[in-house]
Formats: sequence, structure tokens, C-alpha cells
Amino acid sequence: MFWKICLAISFIAVLTNAQQQQQQEQFLGDLPSYDHGVSGKVYAINDRTIILRNLNYDGQAPDAFFWIGTTKKPGVTGQPIPDENGSLKPLKGYRNANITLQLPAGKTLRDIKHFGIWCRAYQIDFGHVKIN
Ligand SMILES: *[C@@H]1O[C@H](CO)[C@@H](O)[C@H](O)[C@H]1NC(C)=O
Ligand SMILES: *[C@@H]1O[C@H](CO)[C@@H](O)[C@H](O)[C@H]1NC(C)=O
Repeated sequence: MFWKICLAISFIAVLTNAQQQQQQEQFLGDLPSYDHGVSGKVYAINDRTIILRNLNYDGQAPDAFFWIGTTKKPGVTGQPIPDENGSLKPLKGYRNANITLQLPAGKTLRDIKHFGIWCRAYQIDFGHVKIN
């Protein structure tokens, strides 16, 4: 009997934990497909961490980055953020990828108004979501 109760309690604890993790995840929007086959779902799990699910990008642009900024839409005043491996090299392609991105030190989601994929050299918005 004791063990059954213990099992039941730990099971409830696991469930509660899973639910809390679900709740912490906030859907920010779908990346629209403006160019280069970009699509994907954007989530935040805390104020510094973005999760991308089912991310697609054809990888054919020369100077594309994950991009954040304080303007309504991506623009030259924004800045690149590192890819899922912490690199600031131009993006290669993604196919249905699930990746986690960290905002640069000192920045939170409260500081920015958009997240997207932007070609720096040609100043083209491949798709973005609004934040806040
Ligand atoms: C990140 O690292 C993983 C594992 O090494 C690799 O498969 C992936 O291609 C890398 N992503 C980029 C954008 O370099
Ligand atoms: C990414 O996650 C989704 C479900 O959230 C899954 O359908 C998809 O296969 C995953 N993609 C990869 C490359 O693992």
C-alpha cells in the first residue's frame, strides 16, 4: 500500500512537472514564408530562449541570419543572434529542424520587437514574427 501511494505521488509529480514545462512555453507565432522557403513555429521558453520548431530555410542566400531588433520589422538597425551552435556565421539551410537559440548577453525578449531571418547584405526580410 505504502509503495502504491509513493508511486502515485511520484507519478503526479512527474505530470505536474511536465505541465509546468508546457505552460512555460509561449507560442510567439508562425514564421511567414516571405522568401527562400522560410517557415517554422517560434516559441519562447524563458525571456532569453527561443525555440524554433519545424524550421525550414533553403540556405541559398549569402548573408542570412537569425535577426532581432527594436523596430516593428527587421531592418539595418537590428542585430544577428547566434545559431543553435553559438556561431554567428551566415545561416545554412534547415529542413524541419527543431533548434534552440539564446539571445545575446544582456538582451531579453522584453527588449526586442521582432525575431526573424534577415539577409544582411541585401537587406531582405525572409520572414519574422512580432514580439510584445
Ligand atoms: C550544429 O551542430 C550540429 C551537431 O554537430 C550539426 O549537425 C549542425 O549542422 C550544426 N548547425 C549549424 C548551423 O552549423
Ligand atoms: C521536430 O519536432 C516535431 C514535433 O514537434 C517533429 O514532428 C519533427 O519530426 C522534428 N524534426 C526533427 C528534424 O527532429
